[in-house]
Amino acid sequence: MRYISPSLLAADFSDLKGACEMINRSSAEWLHIDVMDGVFVPNISFGFPVMEAVRKHCVKPLDVHLMIVNPEKYVERFAEAGAYSVGFHLEAVEDPMPALNLIRKHGVKTCLTINPDIPVSRLEPYLDQVDMVLLMSVYAGYGGQKIVPETPERLRRLSAMIRARGLSTLIELDGGVTVDNAAGLFELGADVLVAGSAVFRAPDPLAAIEQLKGNQ
Ligand code: DX5
Ligand code: ZN
Repeated sequence: MRYISPSLLAADFSDLKGACEMINRSSAEWLHIDVMDGVFVPNISFGFPVMEAVRKHCVKPLDVHLMIVNPEKYVERFAEAGAYSVGFHLEAVEDPMPALNLIRKHGVKTCLTINPDIPVSRLEPYLDQVDMVLLMSVYAGYGGQKIVPETPERLRRLSAMIRARGLSTLIELDGGVTVDNAAGLFELGADVLVAGSAVFRAPDPLAAIEQLKGNQ
């Protein structure tokens, strides 16, 4: 599948309702919600009140990406706040299974994420335990970064691992996605591309989403 999940992090925070309305009108399938705690990553973004406000206005599924320590403490609140999927970083926990089970208990899709310095083989034991894996193609913490050069190789390897086992685990890729590299990333096996700057900083965000999907 070829889904686009625009990242709200790059939106104009003084007009989140407008951002949601644009997403509702667009052909984007999901809306990506980046939660940062200033500990797991150096930056702080937003939390529950913003997510709940967005939930009221956005009709698309909310794809939540937690960049926080102790995700097991918070995953249920994000599930209850209306998440479609909740993902957290493998490197933030000793054992991802308790948090994954909590997410699943709420009927919410599970996602495990890794930063570019974590070998994709670390995801292998969990590929049949999650709905989706999120491969960071920049270091988590900031929007507007350039894709790390190892990304295509990592994506290819992860995609091969999933196919070899006949699994239907989705691959989401996050960071540095542009209208120029999106087609190649889908080609290498990404199912969902997150795009912050490429959508919200574009002169015409609706057209940018179409371009990212390869429709224009
Ligand atoms: C980075 C976030 C990304 C970010 C993507 O820590 O997880 O989702 O918003 O932004 P762009 O698309 O601008 O690289
Ligand atoms: Zn993200």
